[in-house]
Amino acid sequence: MPTTPSLPDSIVPAPLPHPATLPLLDPHSYAGQSARRVRHLRLQLAVDFGQRTLAGTATWLLADAPAGPAPAQTAELILDTRGLQIEGVHLGETAGGPAAAYHLDPADPVLGQALRIEVPTGTAAVCVAYRTVPEAAALQWLSPAQTAGAHPFLFTQSQATLARTWLPCPDSPGVRFTYEAAVEVLGTERGQLLALMSAENPQATAPDGRYQFRMAQPIPAYLLALAVGRLDFAPLSERTGIYAEPATLPQASYEFADLEQMVATAEQLYGAYRWERYGLLVLPASFPFGGMENPHLTFVTPTILAGDRSLTSLVAHELAHSWSGNLVTNATWNDFWLNEGFTVYFERRIMERLYGSSYADMLQVLGEAGLRETIVELGENSPATHLRLHLAGRDPDEGLNDIAYEKGCLLLLTLERLVGRPRLDVFIKEYFARFSFQSMTTDTFVAYLTKQLLDPTPGLAERLHLAAWIDGPGLPVNAPVAHSARFDAVDAALVQLAAGAAPADLQPTTTEWSSHEWVHFLQGLPATLTAADLGALDAAFHFTASGNAEILAAWFPLALRAGYGAADAALENFLRHVGRRKFLVPLYRALLATPGGQARAQRIYKEARPNYHSVATGTIDALLK
Ligand code: BES
Ligand code: ZN
Repeated sequence: MPTTPSLPDSIVPAPLPHPATLPLLDPHSYAGQSARRVRHLRLQLAVDFGQRTLAGTATWLLADAPAGPAPAQTAELILDTRGLQIEGVHLGETAGGPAAAYHLDPADPVLGQALRIEVPTGTAAVCVAYRTVPEAAALQWLSPAQTAGAHPFLFTQSQATLARTWLPCPDSPGVRFTYEAAVEVLGTERGQLLALMSAENPQATAPDGRYQFRMAQPIPAYLLALAVGRLDFAPLSERTGIYAEPATLPQASYEFADLEQMVATAEQLYGAYRWERYGLLVLPASFPFGGMENPHLTFVTPTILAGDRSLTSLVAHELAHSWSGNLVTNATWNDFWLNEGFTVYFERRIMERLYGSSYADMLQVLGEAGLRETIVELGENSPATHLRLHLAGRDPDEGLNDIAYEKGCLLLLTLERLVGRPRLDVFIKEYFARFSFQSMTTDTFVAYLTKQLLDPTPGLAERLHLAAWIDGPGLPVNAPVAHSARFDAVDAALVQLAAGAAPADLQPTTTEWSSHEWVHFLQGLPATLTAADLGALDAAFHFTASGNAEILAAWFPLALRAGYGAADAALENFLRHVGRRKFLVPLYRALLATPGGQARAQRIYKEARPNYHSVATGTIDALLK
């Protein structure tokens, strides 16, 4: 096992921007203009499945007011809210304290309403009593039928700007705080439902439905998370384990058996895991993302339970965020590539160490193929293809795309090629250590990179073309192109097929293929295939019956395009159960492109929509309107 290079003495920490100036940069939070800053959250919530509400108090312990020449009598604390019912605001740590003067600004559809609280000098805490509305965008309330079991389920999805829909908070990635929470599950089923958060978590259900949480590390609001459901725990190692519905837990424990090794590998690469325990929560299929890096407890979709451990790079990805994102955090959503680009690079480094470079090469080639497609979709010259985004005035959720992930990763691969892996690894490890628990703007990153690597290396700046990567469109001329030896065999099979071979003739080569080879195969099939051609492929390789969501998601668009009706039932079943937006968008698009597809898509969507989280319905509503 290679060892991590030690840090050379020449690394001098770059000066930090003044922390108080950071939130002002965030165009998606009103809290940046707040005169008082928060430092700790005490959350107390009752979870009511009958009403579909969270109700309680959010108490914010305040940082000392900045010392001015003539301190004012009061200063304003500004919190972000969206759709919350504010029931009262009190000075001090409890709802029993004196009433505070406050008001809510008019609502912006994306940003919500600034909650402006007048805080007299000397006040150390403010307590907001509130409740959520049943439609709160971060929350998905599932009926028992929408889970793998017989109990209701609740989960949150706060990134990018939805934390404010379930608690009043400074909802900017540039503002951090520690937290503790007391959560009480109401109702007759309370004794059977486990509550979990992005914090130190219980491992067993409490008969009285009461849970306490503590998050000792300062985090931004988008990493606040809560889930409540009939969940069991299975430990995988001292510090890792899995939470899942009982019906899913055995399969999940098998699928993620390498979890401890993943954490250990990540630590060998870039330094200690700073969040104590690492757990995975396998959610019901309606979870709108593949994964969400909630600290202490990554949330994952059950669609990565393939039965053969083939889709675990997604776990490596969310784990990698424990460094890139959760330790060093994008200061605003314009800097999203700093979270995701580093994470994709780190994810593939973990996978390479665990499963070899031939495995990681497949992931890289698939990633680059997706990137090229995204660039074509967005337009070669579109500013949406820049690493640095300009999302002011827009819903960040609509402006965040593949570019941050794959173009960001390619920038790091370019650097790797230019300075060599050992030096890049030293740089990245030092970057995570130096900026732990801080936010990072693109400008600060560029300044740091310049000082640490570009300035000391003659000719590097000229060869890197950093400006073209950060503020230029598409792919810079020096972007590397990955090659996968394992995909060469797939390409050879595709050539045989094009030359008239029967699908069954390919079989000796295909027996050892992983889902990645199959996805590459499906992506390489010509657009001209007929329904009969697909029938022959299906008979040989059983795509329609595949239990692998990535294979299905690559297969269904082919079936739709060719009018291969034998896949219809499986497609509709998939759309009714799976709420992962990355799959839904291309599938509904492919449906729309078929004759009569509009009506068919509407019919399926009408039935499936109640299964989708608001971030998915937001996108699909717009697609089908
Ligand atoms: N943090 C993201 C998910 C996210 C991004 C939520 C932006 C809301 C706004 C997470 O780490 C992620 O990238 N998930 C990917 C999986 C990954 C392997 C590319 C997903 O969900 O598909
Ligand atoms: Zn990510």
